[in-house]
Order: sequence, then C-alpha cells, then structure tokens
Amino acid sequence: MHLLIPAAGSGKRMGANCNKLLLQVRSKPLIAWTLLAAEAASSISWIGIVSQPPDWDDFKSIIADLKLKKTIALISGGATRQESVYNGLQALPTNAEQVLIHDGARCLVTPNLFDACSDVILHCSGLIAAVPVKDTIKVVDENGIIKGTPERKQLWAAQTPQGFDVNLLKHCHAEGIRQGWEVTDDAALFEKCGLEVRIVPGEETNLKITTPQDLAIAEFILSHRK
Ligand code: C5P
Repeated sequence: MHLLIPAAGSGKRMGANCNKLLLQVRSKPLIAWTLLAAEAASSISWIGIVSQPPDWDDFKSIIADLKLKKTIALISGGATRQESVYNGLQALPTNAEQVLIHDGARCLVTPNLFDACSDVILHCSGLIAAVPVKDTIKVVDENGIIKGTPERKQLWAAQTPQGFDVNLLKHCHAEGIRQGWEVTDDAALFEKCGLEVRIVPGEETNLKITTPQDLAIAEFILSHRK
C-alpha cells in the first residue's frame, strides 16, 4: 500500500515558529512517531512525505536517524492541505491503485489502524477512520446564535488514515480545483463528487496535534505505551 503523509503545515495554531511536526515529543520529533507507526504497519510499502522544501534537511536527518527500511519520497507541499495532497497524488508511483492519506500531525496512530484501513480499501473506493462524537454538536451562526443541533448518533469525528482508489481521488481533486471547492479532508471531495465513503473504526487516541495542550496529551499517551 502507498501512503501519503501531508506534513507541510506552518504550525500557526501551535504558536510555533517552525513546522509543528518538528517539535519534540518524548525526545523525538513529532513526525518521527508517525513515521515509526507507518514503518511498523506491514501493509505499507511506500511512504511519500509532503513537506515544504526548506524543511527537507530536517526530514532527511529524521528519516536517517530512524533507519527506516521502507521506500520514502519527499514531495513539495502546497499552500493548503488540499494542495499538498494534490501534489502527493501527482508524485505517486504509476503502479499505485489505492492510497492511504494520513496527516503527519496524527502521530499517535497505531500500525494496526494503518493495516485495517489497507485491508478495507481493497474492497471499496473510499474510506476514513472515524470515531463517534461524544459531545453534543451545535451549528452556530456568525452572531454566536445556535441554528441547530444535529442528532448526535449520526455524527462521527473524521480522522486519518483516509483511503481511496487513486484514479477516483485524482478525479475528485481535479474537480475540486475546477469548482473552487475548499475542503479540510479528502473524503469531502469524494462526497461532493457523489462517491461513497465508508467509515472504519478509528482510535480515540488518534488525536491531531494542533495546540500546545495536544502536545502534552501526546507526551502522556506515548509515555504509557509499551
Ligand atoms: O493544520 P492541520 O493540523 O489541520 O493540518 C493537517 C495536516 O496537513 C498536518 O499534518 C499538516 O502538516 C498538513 N498540511 C500540509 N500542507 C499544508 C497545511 C497542512 O501538508 N499547506
């Protein structure tokens, strides 16, 4: 299975003056934990890291330190996650029929979740890892007034990995550019194109590290792993 890791963000919400994926968690750069999980997932054979060229020296030295055995490619990131994934799709080897996409910032992912997604994507054309929402979610307008309360049992929090048929996802990204759609995950492009996306049970600990509080939680969770 081919895996693309969007890792080209700026870390603005982290308040960091560098790519947040280079910040240390448990004495390793955050991205190192994501890469170790991908390396340990038996289904993954090729890893494309989409990142900004000024960060490449850092990424290269992290890859060398981890002594990763899988084939790794560095791909230039875009201005948004959507553009970064688009660039990643163009750089996939021509024999790639399915692809998993996993945010570098979800460094608590387990190898099992990668392998579960790799299995399922062989039998469908689109999937995402997701967990049922625990909070009651409100739709709120620009004045801070609640406009609705969607039924909680229908709500799932989207995670990555997300998996897709490569040709279909390329088509959806091209359509997204044509239509000017701005989305925060790839499943949204699939949905907008009328294609089916399946849920795979995600992991409660598979957090996206966004704020300094998330970094502290990641430290805690990793310190309790064997
Ligand atoms: O900013 P956020 O954490 O939501 O980004 C999700 C993922 O997308 C992160 O792993 C981040 O590095 C990546 N990203 C990217 N290119 C961008 C912005 C974000 O690859 N231009």
